[in-house]
Amino acid sequence: MSILSTSPVVPLIQADSTDVAVKTAKALKAGGLITLEIVWRNEIAMDCMEAISEEVSGITVGAGTVLTGEQAEEAVRRGAEFIVSPGLNNEVVAVSKANGLDIFPGIVTPSEAQAAWNLGLRTVKFFPASLSGGPAMLKALSSVFQHMQFMPTGGVTPANLGAYLEIPSVIACGGSWLTPASEIDKSNYDAITTLAKSALEIARGVRPEVRQT
Ligand code: 3PG
Repeated sequence: MSILSTSPVVPLIQADSTDVAVKTAKALKAGGLITLEIVWRNEIAMDCMEAISEEVSGITVGAGTVLTGEQAEEAVRRGAEFIVSPGLNNEVVAVSKANGLDIFPGIVTPSEAQAAWNLGLRTVKFFPASLSGGPAMLKALSSVFQHMQFMPTGGVTPANLGAYLEIPSVIACGGSWLTPASEIDKSNYDAITTLAKSALEIARGVRPEVRQT
């Protein structure tokens, strides 16, 4: 069972300080979202991930935008509970697997899905989801890769979240719409909690089995 099954929506966090990262994680948890991806797009990303792990209980935190085997090793050392990558990189997959972590590489085409399958992966990221055909493309991939699960990310919004989650092979949707800089810059963490709650509400609408948190 993939670690992503703990939550149908996976917010992406990119913070300018560990304090902001922790406050964002707490706000998301208050809204019921407990699986978080810290994207490695600035120098303090792993500090932020560590701080969240230490200071926010009851959540699962992973490292995203992991591009190299070296980065994957550091993410493991710093406590990542899963790894996400925009594309399929054999070294990232090998390091993650060697350390017993789920790795969700980005795929878009049937050949990429096949390559991930050949590496033993059964859950992949579908990225960039909206630009790559959205729910219709994902349905087409799912019809042939019947034993794979997908995490669409990239252009997922409240308007299309339901359409993605209605696809049985979608295990969770990732996205940054839950952590807008416009609210975080104003320290408006209540807005983050509200966004998380409404995403969960949409998920419950199409997936009644999504548990209350
Ligand atoms: C990712 O890292 O997966 C994407 O950049 C997220 O895309 P979004 O900002 O459209 O949610």
